[in-house]
Amino acid sequence: MKKIFSYFFVSILLIGLLSACGTSDKDSTNGSGDNKSDKKVLTMGTSADYAPFEYIDTAKGDEIIGVDADIAKAVAEKLGYEVRFQDMDFGGLIQSLQSGQVDFVMSAMSATDERKKSVDFSETYYTSKHIIVSKKGSGIKSVNDLSGKKVGVQLGSIQEEKAKELAKEVNMTVENRNRIPEIIQEIKAGRFDAAVIEDTVAKGYLDNNPDLEGFTIEDADGGYAIAFPKDSKLTEEFNKVLKEMIDNGEIDAIIKKWFE
Ligand code: ARG
Repeated sequence: MKKIFSYFFVSILLIGLLSACGTSDKDSTNGSGDNKSDKKVLTMGTSADYAPFEYIDTAKGDEIIGVDADIAKAVAEKLGYEVRFQDMDFGGLIQSLQSGQVDFVMSAMSATDERKKSVDFSETYYTSKHIIVSKKGSGIKSVNDLSGKKVGVQLGSIQEEKAKELAKEVNMTVENRNRIPEIIQEIKAGRFDAAVIEDTVAKGYLDNNPDLEGFTIEDADGGYAIAFPKDSKLTEEFNKVLKEMIDNGEIDAIIKKWFE
């Protein structure tokens, strides 16, 4: 009888202990865990070959950083979203929006009339120019000097359009590559005579590569904007916050930080 009684007592004790553990366990995971997953995650498509807008600094880590990454995070934060970046070739970004693979695109993408036929854009937050980059001593000092030359551009970019346009006036050939570093490599290796690259990105390469030179030709068409699938609910939400951040100087501050 004594034995049965003590078994009973031990069981009660065990059950009490176990259920106490159970609840306290639940509490601790529920607390922080649930809060995090409450935030809706948005996927941003980008071509991370474009310092200082979107790139990976392998010396610092494997994260995508830059102006666009910071703006995206700031806007999303204000709207209560979490952003995940998806790196892909620039030429595939519009398609990834249309197929629903990504929720929006930030990739120093110029809001051109042609693109507006397939996607919606936010307000623009940055304007750019084109630079002709070549090897130092190439003698390429004007657009006319591109005659007889092979000129590289990024696939699907407005620089590709620009180069094709120039090729109607100047006898040059245009070749594309998926990523900017590939284009720079081709110039260095002598396979491309020159390239049409956006000013800020080109300047980064000119500063770090004494064997390259360049000159500005003109303003690029369409400022940088955030792109959304047609009729996305996000366009208006994002645009409202982006406009506020343009007006109160937050966007300028982010840009300035990355241009130092
Ligand atoms: N602004 C140009 C365009 O829209 C080039 C952008 C390239 N962006 C990039 N992340 N590689 O066509």
